Amino acid sequence: MLNKEDLFKNIIAHAKEYGFVFQSSEIYDGLSAAYDYGPNGIELKNNIKNYWWTSMVKMHENIVGLDSAIFMHPKTWKASGHIDAFNDPLIDNKDSKKRYRADVLIEDHISKVELKIEKEILKASKRFGADFNKKEFISTNVRVLERQKKISYINNKMSASFSSGNLEEIRNLIIELDIKCPISGTNNWTDVRQFNLMFKTQMGATADGASDLFLRPETAQGIFVNFLNIQKTSRMKIPFGIAQIGKAFRNEIVARQFIFRMREFEQMEMQFFVQPGEEIKWYEYWKKTRMRWHHSLGIDSRNYRFHNHENLAHYANAASDIEFKFPFGFKELEGIHSRTDFDLAAHQEYSGKKIQYFDPELGKSYIPYVVETSIGLDRMFLSVLSHAFCQEKLENGESRSVLKIPAFLAPIKAAILPLTKKDGMPEKARAIMKSLRINFNCQYEEKDSIGKRYRRQDAIGTPFCITIDHQTLEDDTITIRDRDTMQQKRISIPKIHSIISEKTDIANFLN
Ligand code: GAP
Repeated sequence: MLNKEDLFKNIIAHAKEYGFVFQSSEIYDGLSAAYDYGPNGIELKNNIKNYWWTSMVKMHENIVGLDSAIFMHPKTWKASGHIDAFNDPLIDNKDSKKRYRADVLIEDHISKVELKIEKEILKASKRFGADFNKKEFISTNVRVLERQKKISYINNKMSASFSSGNLEEIRNLIIELDIKCPISGTNNWTDVRQFNLMFKTQMGATADGASDLFLRPETAQGIFVNFLNIQKTSRMKIPFGIAQIGKAFRNEIVARQFIFRMREFEQMEMQFFVQPGEEIKWYEYWKKTRMRWHHSLGIDSRNYRFHNHENLAHYANAASDIEFKFPFGFKELEGIHSRTDFDLAAHQEYSGKKIQYFDPELGKSYIPYVVETSIGLDRMFLSVLSHAFCQEKLENGESRSVLKIPAFLAPIKAAILPLTKKDGMPEKARAIMKSLRINFNCQYEEKDSIGKRYRRQDAIGTPFCITIDHQTLEDDTITIRDRDTMQQKRISIPKIHSIISEKTDIANFLN
């Protein structure tokens, strides 16, 4: 069994070897925290986008789409608060010279205390067996209670220090908790400083006449500034949502862990506009709906959990993350935020244009409240890829690398493989390929032994391999091999379509 670091290294190497993800500008030794998606990567990425878009826009009559420009008027970012408040609190370890986000150091410390509680519960449940009462144990066990008290103490202190902007207190908390740098093992920390994460650029031909612009750090603001355009042209009534998929840019200081934290990445965001006072109801609705979407992928539900925020962003009155169990532990995959009327009110103020909705049911105008769902496409990609990656020992002593990607997200749905290059098998295989490719992404392969070709398809996650052999020429049957079980079935050619469709049509998975 591989340790977590080695497993993650293998996933990254596999992603490169099989054309999923490459380091950006690799021939120039790479650009850190920027990545390129290869032929299989872009197919997987597009399938994830399509799955999200279908579930959010196609399946909801009251959600419509948008594709807004990356460049936005500079006042946008003043209004949204990003110029003043989109900062990371950074701290350096003087011995290792490594830089960390101070809040992440503290949150990682809390996770360790939570893990100790979980272990305590597991130990007790094993000891007491069927008689174990978890609720009672949690509310009475001295060690669990002490640890919970400690977590509340840390959370309260962290929230209070961030709310008052007291960075010295944040540093003191790190020292008090004896948090050490994982590299140097010391707690020799610098002061905590704020660092703005937006990339600045210029628009215009000359430096004099140019105006400073920012690359958008979230797609959401493109939705807010278009609220009235869309509400009016689509005749939407509250509650309704606007969805968008697009690039976002952040000058992340601590950018590691492959495509988990990038400087250029893609978001899939939806802003849902509601009546003031109804936002918490909708916040709970979207928390549930989004978690259901993740579960619909068929990945074991124990890999997901909610993490409710103690330390709220400048625009939110409630926020929760859906965390996924990545190879390096549970980390944020998606955020669900109740953003109040912060953004629309701010754009109304800074633009001087009235941004209000006349509610025919209430007979009055108001600035809608917003509940947002925001998921990183690249993180979603990493969650699918890392969960799918398996290295299996086979009964015959050989081993195989296989990506058990949900079949409807797989880059290639079926490989078409003539057993040999002669006797009319390639021609027959090409004819099958021609009949399938309009509906399914297929790949034709005739080079190497059939075993090698199966391994290559396993490694890119192709759910079906269709082999054309001598019998095909006699009775129009082929063998269809299942990626996960490696079982082969002989079926007639006209049945291929419905077998692939049953496993790969997203209509069978979204409801
Ligand atoms: N509009 C709200 C917003 O942007 P966020 O929690 O900062 O909220 C939303 O980001 C999602 O975007 C995250 O849950 C994560 O999946 C993704 N994300 C954020 N920063 C990222 C980065 N540097 N690299 C990759 N994905 C990122």
